Amino acid sequence: MSSHLFLKPPTGWLNDPNGFIYYNGEYHLFYQHFPFAPVWGRMHWGHAVSSDLVTWEHLPIALYPSKDYDCDGIFSGSAIDIDGKLYLYYTGVKYTPADPDNINIPNGTSNTPCQCLITSDNGYDFDNINNKCKVIDTYTDDTIGNPYEARDPKVWFENGKYYMCLGSSYKYTEGVLLVYSSTNALDWELTCRIQDSRLGNILECPDIFNVNDRWILVASPMGIAKDTDYYEHQSVIQMIDWDADAGSLNLIGESRFLDYGMDIYAPQSTVDESGQRLLVAWLRMPIPVQNDCGVEHPNRGASWIGMMTSPRVITCKEGHVYTAIHPNVYSYFNNNDCATSINIDGIPATKVDDNIYLKHHLNNGDSLNVYGFIIGLEDGTVSTDRSMLLPNDSNIHTSSSSPYVGSECDIEVIMNNNIVEVYINGGQYVITNAIYRRQ
Ligand code: FRU
Repeated sequence: MSSHLFLKPPTGWLNDPNGFIYYNGEYHLFYQHFPFAPVWGRMHWGHAVSSDLVTWEHLPIALYPSKDYDCDGIFSGSAIDIDGKLYLYYTGVKYTPADPDNINIPNGTSNTPCQCLITSDNGYDFDNINNKCKVIDTYTDDTIGNPYEARDPKVWFENGKYYMCLGSSYKYTEGVLLVYSSTNALDWELTCRIQDSRLGNILECPDIFNVNDRWILVASPMGIAKDTDYYEHQSVIQMIDWDADAGSLNLIGESRFLDYGMDIYAPQSTVDESGQRLLVAWLRMPIPVQNDCGVEHPNRGASWIGMMTSPRVITCKEGHVYTAIHPNVYSYFNNNDCATSINIDGIPATKVDDNIYLKHHLNNGDSLNVYGFIIGLEDGTVSTDRSMLLPNDSNIHTSSSSPYVGSECDIEVIMNNNIVEVYINGGQYVITNAIYRRQ
């Protein structure tokens, strides 16, 4: 079974991308997964592989709860190739306690998290019984890390050492970023700790990397946007100063949103075959509670929810971080025998499988109707409106807008029936929205 371009789970629930890596000539993408129903619950790692970042083959669930310390969930984490072996770091969770009426979720918000490792010789076989170990225990001192909120290890190798960053919280008031180092990838030592309101009230899924000689933190601080609960947690791009030798890290200036559609979250980056930094993120798909404009929830009675964005290449030019369409996505649309030419609102577009690509130039005042998804340029900002493709519901925002881009801009749209991605000026800004389109 395969998914094209936008990975979705074969069944059940999908959230964050995990363990994203180019390993042994293939891309492996794991994800937060509850396989039994399209709701969040006791987490597993779903698994898919691809040779080109576009066609994803689903594989059996890779990681599942098997130890006392991860009996209630395999939370997010990352992958690294060490001497040909795949090392997967994740957060093991034990609920304290579980909800007696639904043992797949915690009672209240209390988890006991610790950081764990499982290794695999080939990226396909995962011995959940014999190959797991704990590498960082649950915190007991909340001036370091929150005993209930510390998670999402992202590991990288730099100058002969391994580094791991984690998200946490100081008493639920400020987000905390923890960076560890290790010489053997097993014993980890705390290198630095940043507590800052720019990291929200709990920091999730931090990811640190260098592109074009700039250090960047992409992370998901909770509670940074003042909106309904659903949208308060947003992913950001934050420039940083990171000095591995000195073990020092500083946040530089203000952060900005990774995406202006407010629907994506928990991105994870990796390096592709040709050395480019790229990321994918989880598309949070709202579940409409009413159906007052003829749009039905497509998964009603169906069995899945949650998708990945398409892969985006990250570059930094003149201090601005771009997230652009990956070259393999262009090849998928342009060099594909199955591609057909279609017309949308008078504009030529390309369709492959269920996916559509179009490119257009907008001048101030222009707007475009893409199957009911409206994209316009007004007063120098790109704005979108999905109200025809989602029922009105006070918990779901229908319009989005980019920062100021000027009196004209180029847009590229990639979409299928459940997602629209609008890339502005080659990835200067992106607006991604979940939609529920019936054909
Ligand atoms: C982000 C997140 C992570 C956590 C995972 C649990 O969406 O909350 O912090 O590891 O999802 O599914």
